[in-house]
Parts: sequence; structure tokens; C-alpha cells
Amino acid sequence: MQAMLSPDDISRYKTQGYLLLNNFLTIDECRTMRERAAALLAAFDPNLNPRLVFHAKGNEHVSNSNLMESTDNISFFFAAHAFSLDGRLLCDKTEAIVKIGHALHDCDPVFQRYSHGPKMHEIARNLGYKRPLIGQSRYFYKLPRLKGVISPHQDSTVLYTEPLSCYAIWLALENATHDNGCLWVIPGSHHMGLRVRVIRDEISGKSRLISLGTFAPLDDSSFIPLEVAAGTAVLFCGELVHKSNQNISTRSRQAYAVHFIEGDKSHKYPVENWLQRPGGFGELHYI
Ligand code: FE2
Repeated sequence: MQAMLSPDDISRYKTQGYLLLNNFLTIDECRTMRERAAALLAAFDPNLNPRLVFHAKGNEHVSNSNLMESTDNISFFFAAHAFSLDGRLLCDKTEAIVKIGHALHDCDPVFQRYSHGPKMHEIARNLGYKRPLIGQSRYFYKLPRLKGVISPHQDSTVLYTEPLSCYAIWLALENATHDNGCLWVIPGSHHMGLRVRVIRDEISGKSRLISLGTFAPLDDSSFIPLEVAAGTAVLFCGELVHKSNQNISTRSRQAYAVHFIEGDKSHKYPVENWLQRPGGFGELHYI
């Protein structure tokens, strides 16, 4: 079988911290995933399933506990301002949805098929992973009306292993542009090291950020936009600094992202990591 990533691809990934894989999905596959997400949302009744409803601020969960409670299910994150004080959704679900997560890869047959697909196995194998685990999966809507912003961060902050191993595969299901809130990255920033990690505070049980060193402030002018066509996969390292800006266009920027870590005995997922999934993270497997 031909390698998914050529030696040149791997070299660029190691240098830049990210790689664009054009035509990773066909337009039909993008549509299948969008339609599946729409069907999940349409079938979801926030009143009957309050445990699976979370409020989002900007484009993210309001508190880390939301992320923790959704590691092994399909939860729905809505814009906080779309709810009344007594918790009723004030508008149509499709106008307030921010994201769906964080176990679509395990709990839904369509997303399971793509998350555990042959290309995912090939990438893990080409990168040298022996026992890849899926840490989480997220479906982003990035609706223009909600104007969500994701501030600069590194994904290994939450999915921290020793040694570091997190990487993401971010699939553009619609064209991602400067105006509708594409990913922005600082090329090579993964070489600067991981700035913070999230651990569980022993006393309060809550999440706590700990600094991993002294770092120069991020230079906003170092970010570059990754404008990509629907069907493109963005493979990026867990230490790559990335963000996304407001969607100032009139259309959504839907995307699906899966995060992987190495589960081989050469790597450790520390017990003090704040993010823990009941029963542990599942292995990338063949469907
Ligand atoms: Fe991220």
C-alpha cells in the first residue's frame, strides 16, 4: 500500500508542525458528514436530555467540567445567550449550535467510520505511532451569527502525554476562508515547547493550569491563515499554536476534528491530567 504521507510530507510536518492534505475527503463524504451532524442535531431534544446540553461562550465550552462530562457521549454545545434564565432554548437549535462532542468517533456509526477509517490508520502508521488512541472528536459549526473566537492555544495542553504525542486531524467539511473563520497557525511554534498543561487540583477536584516554563508572548503577526477547500485535512501537532477568528461572513464553516495520542507503553498519560475518560481512551481500530 502506498504511504499516505510521503517522506517529504513527514519532513514538512516535523518542520512546520502542520500539513495540508488536499482532497482527503470527497465532496460527497463532506456532505455525508454534514448531513449526519444535522440529523443528530434535529433528533436531539434539549428538554429531554438536559445532561447532554452545555453552554458555550465564543466557540468553546464555558467550563472545563463540560468537556469532562462529554468525553464518552454525544453532547451538544449551544451559545449561552440562546437560553432563558430558567434554561429554555430561546431560538431554533440550528441557530444556536456551536459544537457537538466529544465521542462522535465512538457513539455514532457515520463518524466512527471516518474517525477509524483506513486513512487515519495510515497517518498514524506513517507518523510511527504504535498504539494510537483517540482522545476526543468534535464537530464545529462556526455559525456566522455567533461570531465565535478560539483564542491561541496548544491541544497538548489538555491531551498531555509523556513524552508529548498529541496530534489532530481537522477535516474541512466546507470551504474554510479568512472571512468564515479558518484555522490560523504559527508555523514552527511546536518547536517552542508546550506552555501550559491542565491538571486536576487535588483539593478542589477542579482543573488547574500549570505553566511549563517561561515563554515569550505570542506575536499575533506570526499567525498565518490556513484557507482550505472542503475535503482538505489539516494534520497538526499538539504543540502547534493555533486559533480561529470570528466568522464575519454569511455562511458557516463546518469542520470535524479528531485528536490522537500514543497509547503504547513508551508513553504515559499521567493520572494527574485533568482530562480522564471513564474506562480510558479507546484505541484506533478497524470498523
Ligand atoms: Fe485546538
